[in-house]
Amino acid sequence: MIARASPNIAFLKYWGKRTTTRDEDRNTPLNPSLSMTLSKAATTASVEFFSTPERTILLNSRPASEADAVKVTEHLARVSAFLGRPLEGFHVDSSNNFPQGAGIASSASAFAALTVAALGAALGRAQAQDFLATHPLDVSRLARRGSGSACRSTDGGFMRWDEDAARPLSIDWKLRDTILIFSKAHKSVPSSAGHLAATTSPDFPARLERIPARLHAMEAALRARDLKLLGPLLEVDALEMHAITRTGRPPVDYLLPETRAFVAAAEALPRRDFYFTIDAGPNLHLISERDITDDIAPILESLGLKPEIWEDHYGEGPRFL
Ligand code: PMV
Repeated sequence: MIARASPNIAFLKYWGKRTTTRDEDRNTPLNPSLSMTLSKAATTASVEFFSTPERTILLNSRPASEADAVKVTEHLARVSAFLGRPLEGFHVDSSNNFPQGAGIASSASAFAALTVAALGAALGRAQAQDFLATHPLDVSRLARRGSGSACRSTDGGFMRWDEDAARPLSIDWKLRDTILIFSKAHKSVPSSAGHLAATTSPDFPARLERIPARLHAMEAALRARDLKLLGPLLEVDALEMHAITRTGRPPVDYLLPETRAFVAAAEALPRRDFYFTIDAGPNLHLISERDITDDIAPILESLGLKPEIWEDHYGEGPRFL
């Protein structure tokens, strides 16, 4: 069975998770988060189960590394155990259509697509489609155990993740995400380590206290479709997350001089109708209602920057192909 799922961009960041040894509790966040599922960027995952022992895993057309093979196998075992079935042989072939290491959350779309494709392979298309419609929280919970933010890619539009699973907010607002890719180098510290280091920042408790009000304000801005209200909240949250990474142990600065230069130039504009957010890397996501490529071209030129640009927008949840 083949499933397609898109990554999501967090408007309010998941940064910090509980320590646990129980697989059911893996990737339980310390704060609620909110995201928008994208559309053009996607992972396409094919899963087949066999009653014979052979197991093959292709990731982006290459045999998976040992570490990735363990993650995929553990995840298929999770889905099988959830359905009360033994895991025997399988074939997985998963590919992304977007650049790697570009600040587009590939683990979110990868584990959402893998979860949905595995459910499809185990249950058959019709029963799996019914399961997705009637048990969305189970699907989100399963994806979360593969990679935290994957639980926000199991449906489309705006997703709010509290504790164990994410739920869609029924808000239809076709926002754009223009991604400026300054570097595709691998993160110096992966997000799994970053989540654990977050609590060592002396600023972390204050962030947790501010989040409920920020979440409330963001949801209100989304419901009102008011970008002037939403934008500053996005920016504050991203900058706060990066302040946490810089003040934790070990301190990590994910930003590049290019990131800071663009942010400073954008902030100096007398008026703008695009706002930035930044995940655990140096690349910028510019959120807007309209096409902003002509607005940002002179800024990039004046700074001598030539990032690769990926234009994406509000999208739908996973589907079978
Ligand atoms: O799901 P993870 O472990 O890759 O963590 C995602 C962390 C951020 O992308 C920085 C924030 C978020 O909420 O997606």
